[in-house]
Amino acid sequence: MPSKKIGAQPPAGAPGAAARPEASADKPSTPAARADWLREQIEHHNYLYYVLDTPSIPDAEYDAMFRELQQLEAEHPELLTPESPTQRVGGQPLTAFATVRHRMPMLSLNNGFDDDDVVAFDRRCAQGLGRAVPAGGEHDLFSAADAVEYACELKFDGLAMSLRYENGRLVQAATRGDGETGEDVTANVRTIKAIPLKLKGRAPAVIEIRGEVFMYRRDFDRLNARQAEAGEKTFVNPRNAAAGSLRQLDPRITARRPLSFFAYGLGELDGEPRPPTHAALLDRFAELGMPVCAERDVVKGAQGLLDFYRSVGAKRDSLPYDIDGVVYKVNAADEQERLGFVSRAPRFALAHKFPAQEMTTVVEDIEVQVGRTGAITPVARLAPVFVGGVTVTNATLHNEDEVRRKDVHIGDTVIVRRAGDVIPEVVSVVLERRPAGARAFVMPRQCPVCGSHVERLPDEAVARCTGGLICAAQRKQALLHFAQRRAMDIEGLGDKVVDQLVEQGIVRTPADLYKLGVAKLAALDRMADKSAGNLVAAINASRQTTLARFIFALGIRHVGEATAKDLARHFGKLDALMAADEAALLQVNDVGPVVARSIANFFAEGHNVEVIEQLRAAGVQWPETEPAARAPAPLAGKTFVLTGTLPTLSREEAKEMLEAAGAKVAGSVSKKTDYVVAGEEAGSKLAKALELGVPVLDEDGMREILAGSDMNR
Ligand code: IVH
Repeated sequence: MPSKKIGAQPPAGAPGAAARPEASADKPSTPAARADWLREQIEHHNYLYYVLDTPSIPDAEYDAMFRELQQLEAEHPELLTPESPTQRVGGQPLTAFATVRHRMPMLSLNNGFDDDDVVAFDRRCAQGLGRAVPAGGEHDLFSAADAVEYACELKFDGLAMSLRYENGRLVQAATRGDGETGEDVTANVRTIKAIPLKLKGRAPAVIEIRGEVFMYRRDFDRLNARQAEAGEKTFVNPRNAAAGSLRQLDPRITARRPLSFFAYGLGELDGEPRPPTHAALLDRFAELGMPVCAERDVVKGAQGLLDFYRSVGAKRDSLPYDIDGVVYKVNAADEQERLGFVSRAPRFALAHKFPAQEMTTVVEDIEVQVGRTGAITPVARLAPVFVGGVTVTNATLHNEDEVRRKDVHIGDTVIVRRAGDVIPEVVSVVLERRPAGARAFVMPRQCPVCGSHVERLPDEAVARCTGGLICAAQRKQALLHFAQRRAMDIEGLGDKVVDQLVEQGIVRTPADLYKLGVAKLAALDRMADKSAGNLVAAINASRQTTLARFIFALGIRHVGEATAKDLARHFGKLDALMAADEAALLQVNDVGPVVARSIANFFAEGHNVEVIEQLRAAGVQWPETEPAARAPAPLAGKTFVLTGTLPTLSREEAKEMLEAAGAKVAGSVSKKTDYVVAGEEAGSKLAKALELGVPVLDEDGMREILAGSDMNR
């Protein structure tokens, strides 16, 4: 089964794992009864896994039941039914999709982009329903008594789909098309395990359930990795991947694509009354076994709508799927009817869009930046574009190979993506818009800052300036690294100050910082006496530090904060670290040959040792400790996997505690895992642990092991 899903919720007061059909250990007596039982079990576990996201059995057990059913059906073809879970993929590839005329049109939504649009929408609804609407200025919000009630949900970024069930059986799946006619994609949609082939409970004679087919981000990443590995085309985003997967004429291909579904609307209904509200309709869908997104609410008035928008906006980036906004629908069905439609969109609904996370713009140039270790990074200079809520003018292209892989030329129109706080990136080129004069990028042979030779080692993706600290760009980056909060923590030493200090030749190495006086600093641009005084105070305060911070601050390649801590703990004293050869360095937790060589090379350079001596002479100091006990860390050699939410510890804290005791914390469960620590909402990793017989601990159990390991020290 694919990755763990979050988001769907069980129908109110209805089946969770506890209500699963009786798992009978005794085999039913006849093949027919056994086949029925297996189908029920498999469908139930599909439901738990794909709809409720609460898998209750290991994959292996599910697979065994599936194989047993396949075998039974092969031996007794008369037992086969079209709704059997083995029949999700069937038949031959199509030559074309048939056209479907929607019995009720599939409409679109009006869009709103800001608070005013939402207030105006609420006002229109209230007026249309004859509520008292105060004549008022901008943003006046109605009193609760007269407020219209709305159902709020997410606007999923996928493809609209209409699923027709007759007597509880899926008989047709159709795309929206132009709203009047769509394409018949039933064979493909039958392969989506989140979509039941048979509805649960007592289903109406006819029900058309509308919703969105989409792909979870994690599934999308995995699919792309798989496509790349197989040398096949990768997809730009989950929406395109979902669309491309549905458009396959061969359902066997669709079956391998991890598609999902959320229900949000009703088409034709026959055989039961329409639920009185939209919220009740969604509950009814859930009761029928359809996936319905749990991120929904019922609110009143414009203020309620705006609060919903903000709360969803705050978690947009952490949702496991892409959304492009939220949707508001007047909750009461009779009120929806009274409000009716304008042209192709309902008057009772509004899509409130978030700022787009992808936009197109033009690459005006590709320049290179030189980093602290000399790494030369190509950066696209873009025509300014508003994306993900900010104006973006630069996007990293990472390295030369990446520029080639994405085939970015100067002059190209590109899709730029910025999600959350993530650095903007060029997703792909719109090749149809490449102008005649577009130029390819050429990696410079000389560093654009210091003119030193640029080299790219055969096994590295990154080209580097060989200038080292004679390169002003590297020097600046080295100083910023030295001063950063997690290193020497010199507040106020930002890039504007560092630029000037290096360019005016005032500071060459970190040791020079400790010679700076207020007068010199105050003479810099944008520096007043007060800020200069504060900076000098911060530099002074940084003299008292810790060995780990100092090691990290040195900026040795491959030595991040965690390695610096390991080195400090292991050696206790700087001189011991400086004297260590590669063999001694390899004894340190998590230090491998590449890191060991990099550290040894760093201390073999006379100029590095000189800077360290100058820093010590300037009074930089830290408490020296005895080297860590030679005894191996108590949990050394043990591998843990963390999953779910622990009651009191964050994932990071638990990881730190385990690592401090010498354990390794891995991302996935395998036979080599010693323990899985599982909290609330643990998913597939827990299932895997149970399947492999790996011991599972809760937070208390983990603490006990840690306490035990302390005693053994
Ligand atoms: S309701 C009568 N609800 O947005 C209104 N649509 O612009 C019918 N969409 O084609 C649509 N999430 O693909 C509705 N929660 C949601 C939605 C949603 C995404 C899409 C849908 C539709 C488009 C309308």
